[in-house]
Amino acid sequence: MRYDFDKLVDRRGSGAIMTDVLQERYGRSDLLALWVADMYFETPAPVREAIERRLSHQIYGYSIPAASYWSSVINWERELHGWTFRREEMSFIPGIVRGIAYVLQCFTKPGDKVVVQPPVYMPFLNLPRNNGRQIVENPLAWDAASGTYRMDLADLEEVCRRESPRLLILSNPHNPAGIVWPKEDLAALAEICWRYDVLVISDEIHADMAHRGFVHHPFPTVSPAAAEVSITFAAPSKTFNIAGLVSSFCVVPNPRLREPFFQYLSCNEFGEPLFLSAIATEAAFTRCGEWRRQMLDYVQDNVDFVCDYLRSNVPGIVAVRPQASFLIWLDCRGLGLDHAALIDLFVNKAQLAFNDGEAFGRGGEGHMRMNVGAPRAMVAEAMRRIETAVKSLK
Ligand SMILES: Cc1ncc(COP(=O)(O)O)c(C=O)c1O
Repeated sequence: MRYDFDKLVDRRGSGAIMTDVLQERYGRSDLLALWVADMYFETPAPVREAIERRLSHQIYGYSIPAASYWSSVINWERELHGWTFRREEMSFIPGIVRGIAYVLQCFTKPGDKVVVQPPVYMPFLNLPRNNGRQIVENPLAWDAASGTYRMDLADLEEVCRRESPRLLILSNPHNPAGIVWPKEDLAALAEICWRYDVLVISDEIHADMAHRGFVHHPFPTVSPAAAEVSITFAAPSKTFNIAGLVSSFCVVPNPRLREPFFQYLSCNEFGEPLFLSAIATEAAFTRCGEWRRQMLDYVQDNVDFVCDYLRSNVPGIVAVRPQASFLIWLDCRGLGLDHAALIDLFVNKAQLAFNDGEAFGRGGEGHMRMNVGAPRAMVAEAMRRIETAVKSLK
């Protein structure tokens, strides 16, 4: 069956953050919104049907997930990524951002140092700060040859030696630049962290959306050291457009990390699946494989469209081509605008809601993040608006 990703679904008034907080966030509500990392595509029908079936029961009391929930996760990871783990090694997590906060609280104390690799997903910077931990940076390095960033592993080693951090938070694949990390880089990072006794949180929420020609490597699979030092988070939420259902899980192969962490989760009752998320996860992982393939084809065509359009029509903006997921990191420094003028260009001249690159920390200056998990007509309209707005600057 062919799925219709061109279909326009009006999200306004549904409580979607994407469309319903524009006035508060951007100062006006008449914007074409392509910012928050969820998609405009209808959640696949098998997921909606499974939820509707459960909701048709008259009582929504305390529930236990079916055994098939756990096996659906285990099978999905094995089949898609060749990643094998046992049920005892995994736990439900009510959201990856929360999961990262739990790890911070369980394994670090105020004042401890946490390594991040900016520019990077904003909560990686905010959660440690909000919890009184110190951020130490291992910035990504721009690599002109590949047209994207690479990790600066020599600097990471130096940071670990100098700062004695407790923890590193890794975005694998990377948000905002959409990088699928090479296995060798992940293994080298693991080796450094193992030597300096740094716990690695691998956030793999975008893992199931690698583009053609790229292979995602779950962090614990890259080496024995990686399995030993890591807590890995993943979820069906981005891939199947169910972020509002809060449906993540973690895998911790090393019992020396797993036991204290699972104890922390169970003491605080953080690890109990919400009944709808377990149902949605199982439906996504068992019945939506073809939907995922077609969605990824569609998104990659959107990526091609944006990269080609900007190259041909807007020379001041360069798209960093993502290797996974539906977000595009736009380097707008060629426009020569300061921060206020760049935001004014996007919000007031182009009437677009994109993410401000500065929120992603060092290296995000002069960048914007665009979401292309949307019907082509919306993406094309956004391109036309950017072109017209940039031309009006002259
Ligand atoms: C790298 C990354 N981690 C986590 C999240 C959010 O995860 P959750 O909604 O499960 O807290 C996002 C959402 O954009 C993300 O890009």
